[in-house]
Amino acid sequence: MTSHNLDGFKKAAALKAVEFVRDGMVVGLGTGSTAKHMVIALGEQVRAGMKLRGVPTSQETATLAREAGIPLLDSETRWEIDIAIDGADQVDPEFNLIKGGGGALLKEKIVAASAKQFIVMVDHTKQVPILGGSFPLPIEIIPFGWGSTAREIEALTKSRVVLRERNGTPFRTETGNLIVDVHIDRITQPGGLETALNLIPGVVETGLFVGRTNILIVGTPEGVQTLHASQKK
Ligand code: A5P
Repeated sequence: MTSHNLDGFKKAAALKAVEFVRDGMVVGLGTGSTAKHMVIALGEQVRAGMKLRGVPTSQETATLAREAGIPLLDSETRWEIDIAIDGADQVDPEFNLIKGGGGALLKEKIVAASAKQFIVMVDHTKQVPILGGSFPLPIEIIPFGWGSTAREIEALTKSRVVLRERNGTPFRTETGNLIVDVHIDRITQPGGLETALNLIPGVVETGLFVGRTNILIVGTPEGVQTLHASQKK
């Protein structure tokens, strides 16, 4: 499977997701290569006359949305988000997710939590029987005392915890925090783990999105599948 093929599946899923957006909606705009296709497609809808306002989950998405002509709401206001649309790094049969590969998990979770409906778009390679293993769990932590926070995460998860770096220096999120990637083999109880991690002082948010997905759209070689939360396997 080449990355070119995968991008085609991501784009197909994104175009299907855009079909759920209606005139006048406030739309949470996710981050990443799948979300990029969605933002571009929404821009085309706006040019065709649809009235939309967006809430971006990163600077990268905000820039894309502006270029696409989508009006954006102020980041520090009380939004009423009708629908949030985002990608994911892994999705399990319960539609629970690992997100944060791009480092935008905090804003992504705030926007998903604020939205009446959360739509997730993935290519089929992101579907896994159980979260973890091939993709480490990103956790956003504050820089103060980060080593102690990382040690507590290690003790809780009994897994290797790696400080994320970019160009040889610690990666900083848009809110000025750090990310640690936790190499957990099998996340058997994502809800319990999310709660336990969030109780560790210094943890800002985890990349586990549990019970939040309303609609899952999967781009596959056989076409696009649209699955509603009521149809979970
Ligand atoms: C960004 O922090 C992530 O949560 C992305 O949503 C996730 O990594 C999916 O990215 P792609 O659509 O690029 O695979």
